[in-house]
Amino acid sequence: MQVVLSLLSLYFAASPVYASVTIYTQVPLGTATGSSISPAGTDTTHAAFDPTVLNPPALPSPPIPTTYVLQLTSGGANNLSIQQPGNFLGFSVELSVADQICTFFSTHIQPVLLNLLANVERRAGSVQLRVGGNTQEKAVFFPEGLPGEATILKDKSQITNPTQTPTIQVGIDLLYAMSNITSLVNAVWYMGVPFNDSANPRLAIAQYSERILGTSLKGLQVGNEPDLYADHGVRPQPYGPPEYVAEFGTMLGIIGNDSNIINKTNIIAPSTCCNYGVNEVLAAGFQQFIPQLGYLAVEQWVILHVFELSLGNVTVDLQSEFPKYLSHAAVVAMVQPFVNVANQAVAFQKPLLMTETNTASCGGFPGISDTFGAGLWGIDYALQLAYGNFSGAMMHMGGQNVYYNPFTPPPTNDAKHGKQWTIGPIYYSTLIVAEVLGSSNTSQVVDLFANGNTDSTPAYAIYENGTPVRVALFNYNTDPSGATNYTAQIAIGGSGVNQPNASPSQVTVRYFTAPSVSTKTNLLWANQTFGGVMESDGTFQGTQETVTIQCDTTNNICPVNVPAPGFALVFLTPEAQAASSGGQAAVVTFATTATTGIYRNTATIPPGVLATSNGHGGLNNQVGSTSFGSTNGALNLLHALPGILSLLCMAIGAAMIGRSLVQ
Ligand SMILES: *[C@@H]1O[C@H](CO)[C@@H](O)[C@H](O)[C@H]1NC(C)=O
Ligand SMILES: *[C@@H]1O[C@H](CO)[C@@H](O)[C@H](O)[C@H]1NC(C)=O
Ligand SMILES: *[C@@H]1O[C@H](CO)[C@@H](O)[C@H](O)[C@H]1NC(C)=O
Repeated sequence: MQVVLSLLSLYFAASPVYASVTIYTQVPLGTATGSSISPAGTDTTHAAFDPTVLNPPALPSPPIPTTYVLQLTSGGANNLSIQQPGNFLGFSVELSVADQICTFFSTHIQPVLLNLLANVERRAGSVQLRVGGNTQEKAVFFPEGLPGEATILKDKSQITNPTQTPTIQVGIDLLYAMSNITSLVNAVWYMGVPFNDSANPRLAIAQYSERILGTSLKGLQVGNEPDLYADHGVRPQPYGPPEYVAEFGTMLGIIGNDSNIINKTNIIAPSTCCNYGVNEVLAAGFQQFIPQLGYLAVEQWVILHVFELSLGNVTVDLQSEFPKYLSHAAVVAMVQPFVNVANQAVAFQKPLLMTETNTASCGGFPGISDTFGAGLWGIDYALQLAYGNFSGAMMHMGGQNVYYNPFTPPPTNDAKHGKQWTIGPIYYSTLIVAEVLGSSNTSQVVDLFANGNTDSTPAYAIYENGTPVRVALFNYNTDPSGATNYTAQIAIGGSGVNQPNASPSQVTVRYFTAPSVSTKTNLLWANQTFGGVMESDGTFQGTQETVTIQCDTTNNICPVNVPAPGFALVFLTPEAQAASSGGQAAVVTFATTATTGIYRNTATIPPGVLATSNGHGGLNNQVGSTSFGSTNGALNLLHALPGILSLLCMAIGAAMIGRSLVQ
């Protein structure tokens, strides 16, 4: 969803640190241009680099239990999810910024992007990306290409609707770039198809996507958030489930008769988010289309401030929003409304996708969406979706003017001066979820409602073929004293369960850590980091650390300590660790070649290399040439007092007032 956000003023009430008023305009996404070069590590003109730091929420009272037995069964378990792929958590790229993220031109794919995607591929076997969003609806495709081999051009002359979505001109070079990316890092794609004029649909983008992307095209997403069309003024009122179902039927009929589209069964729909959902469209006759669908899809934005919206004026107390992202109950409540739909999808044998989601609408929240806390939230939410029988989820990214991006390229001006990419916490979540699920495609997820269902210490187990192989342990609390660290005593079989002891003699653990849930940079996953603002070439810095923990073979328990805050991924077998680690020998790094100007961060891929790359090759095997820079150039505002954010969030406001998510 491309959300209109005019962030009129960002100020800190009751704060000794007075941040100067900053004007952001986020319409359309990603078009703001920084005219100056950012001083080391800071950029106060783009949300993606916002230095706001909140206080970690207070510790729970009473304190959490700091030791508990986590009893797992072997030979199966109740409530296991369907089998999940390692690439479950992927990325959603708003069509209008696809050029920023992927490439300036198809012959200059961003090597940092390749590194970032290769990191996921290495763990999960492949990486899934969706290209679309509200900007797909009026997209016009140019098979002959755009001037200068441009991939995306924006025509803002026709802006009429409340989301102020520009018409996007998509050149064929975007598809070539996507195809070329796939040949290097095994990316699979979901492509958005315009649905603004179903009587005269522009299906060229579907035809050419199929032709150029081949088997890496997994689905065509026809329409995006149709339940908001009337609110956005792009359809006459009413536009409820009956109107949508009728129009979608017309569109499917035309696709069915289009001899230039070969695969007639990979459509993704209904991609509803807000006003009505899958249940409502099914009730209105959508079920007849199921044979032509490849996937069912929904979209979800955590609009925790929905109750505070009024007539488009939103006042959000960021500090009081923060704890809502550090709660397992909140995560469960987000997924609960979809469980029925997910199980219908299982019955239809159609995977259910979350095609677009992230921490919060309106570009996310400064000090929340871009923190370690959001990284923990991203893991918990993705595993909850997996447990709830979704088959994939895509974390949305916009331009430099949103807070929640998994990764953000530097503004052009900064790029020219050697600045690198900013890696957000949600990107760490993506890598970690890939490791939690591993590459077997047989992982089944179960929420253990652990530690007496303590809200801040959830845990999941992953089973493969009836055997527990991994455990994911969270600690959402921040307590530098160490008093809120806890120990999960993992036991398998035995120990009071009517089956033989199956506890291992040792386990291995990787930790995701930061000093505080508020921390924004230099997060550590298994002792490796992507550094701080505009510091990353997409490769991990540091040496991977996997801790071995000896189990107590007398009592058959494996004690795993989880710091506050922190996350631990426990591998119960060496095979489980291997299946999450990919072939370390095959690590490929795409070097950021030394070129000039805006091409500094782009790679020129020799066609010969591409031709022989066989889906997993790379440019060369050396670590990128980027200097890592100072590790902490960012403003240290750890002691800033609670921020107050005033938002004017018209599109969402109009759509959401008084409505909770309906699915
Ligand atoms: C997910 O699907 C499996 C297999 O159909 C089922 O056993 C399980 O109960 C479902 N999970 C939820 C949360 O409904
Ligand atoms: C991408 O694919 C197109 C078409 O095959 C090709 O002309 C172009 O050179 C490729 N780009 C790169 C970076 O290899
Ligand atoms: C997992 O599924 C993907 C996609 O279907 C496939 O490419 C891959 O080979 C599978 N991996 C295993 C280990 O079966």
